Amino acid sequence: MSNHIQITPSILNADFANLQSEIARIGNSDWIHVDVMDNHFVPNLTFGPSMVEALSRATEIPLDAHLMIADADRHAPAYVEAGAKSVTFHVEASSAPIRTAREIRSKGARASMALRPATPIEPYEELIPELDMVLIMTVEPGFGGQKFLDLCLPKIRTARSYIEKHGGECWLQVDGGVSLETIERCAEAGADVFVAGSAVYSVEDPDQMVNDLRAAAAAVSHS
Ligand code: DX5
Ligand code: ZN
Repeated sequence: MSNHIQITPSILNADFANLQSEIARIGNSDWIHVDVMDNHFVPNLTFGPSMVEALSRATEIPLDAHLMIADADRHAPAYVEAGAKSVTFHVEASSAPIRTAREIRSKGARASMALRPATPIEPYEELIPELDMVLIMTVEPGFGGQKFLDLCLPKIRTARSYIEKHGGECWLQVDGGVSLETIERCAEAGADVFVAGSAVYSVEDPDQMVNDLRAAAAAVSHS
């Protein structure tokens, strides 16, 4: 089992007019999660590669780009070129996930594949060696501040068992409704990388929340 707990705050709920100072408030983060939305794959619109490029110049913390966009095979490489150190595409938006994962890796970033809550993990077990991370969404993607879906917990467990079967190298990320109230459930089920948006940016001291989330997950995670 993995014991490398990482916290990756999402800037989706940060103040977009002041992103430089908003990022400075989460200096304890392992990664910064950047939610890319195209108004097609999800009903919301955020950033493109030029914003990722600007953010990568504004911080030393590596960027974790979560692409909630259609035609992921075509667009994912541009986010590696923009400076993201991890690029996550949705399997539902990809017709060639193996080729896309290999392209992300060959360009020098970690390759990650995301599943919406209703997408089963079983058909993708054999893809795990091609991936550096699997993202199990725990809300329907598109917006911050939604309620955590407990129905995703069995899928996190299954994904963890597949990852262990394939050597345990791949990270397992959860995203959506992760907070001090829900992070222990995710860690217990086997997640080791935790995205948190509103939980981090709704408090006075986001950096303290990053530490509190990490401690809560570490307390229950398997070693
Ligand atoms: C949702 C995004 C998430 C979002 C999480 O579609 O992918 O990264 O920012 O926000 P919270 O933690 O508020 O659910
Ligand atoms: Zn996300």
